[in-house]
Amino acid sequence: MRSIESHETSSQSETEALGAGIALRLAPGVVVYIRGDLGAGKTALVRGACRQLGVAGRVTSPTFTIAHRYDDGIHPISHLDLYRLGSHLDSEVPGLLEEELGPERITFVEWPGDLDENSAVAVLNISIEHRGGDKRLVKLW
Ligand SMILES: Nc1ncnc2c1ncn2[C@@H]1O[C@H](COP(=O)(O)OP(=O)(O)OP(=O)(O)O)[C@@H](O)[C@H]1O
Ligand SMILES: [Mg+2]
Repeated sequence: MRSIESHETSSQSETEALGAGIALRLAPGVVVYIRGDLGAGKTALVRGACRQLGVAGRVTSPTFTIAHRYDDGIHPISHLDLYRLGSHLDSEVPGLLEEELGPERITFVEWPGDLDENSAVAVLNISIEHRGGDKRLVKLW
């Protein structure tokens, strides 16, 4: 495992701001896996990142549709939430990722399970942990 970077946030807007900062370090072709419990702030972080990348409209959870695409920013973005795939992850994900990954896109994946992290060109891993109240510990590696 490469080096871990840690941040603490105390509100949704702080997590969004952290996402915005992370977005400055992303390039097309990168896949960002985001792990953490329900309500940890995964979507909030993606929202901040999308804003930074020039997405103007609402950035909401793709829980029910599995994937959202944002094509109005600096780079095309895919935002996946694989929670609902549950045990179907292994059979569904390869096809899904083939559609949603690309050298020109930045892809965020919530609930990636134990998806093979070596499958993508470049990967950033993020985990978000509850730390009581509105505090969250965000790790990057
Ligand atoms: N420090 C914080 N960072 C992010 N969200 C916070 C924080 N403190 C409180 N919250 C609240 O926690 C919730 C986070 O929701 P969000 O949809 O981003 O979580 P999620 O990890 O994507 O959940 P899910 O697993 O359901 O997709 C929001 O209601 C937000 O207001
Ligand atoms: Mg979410």
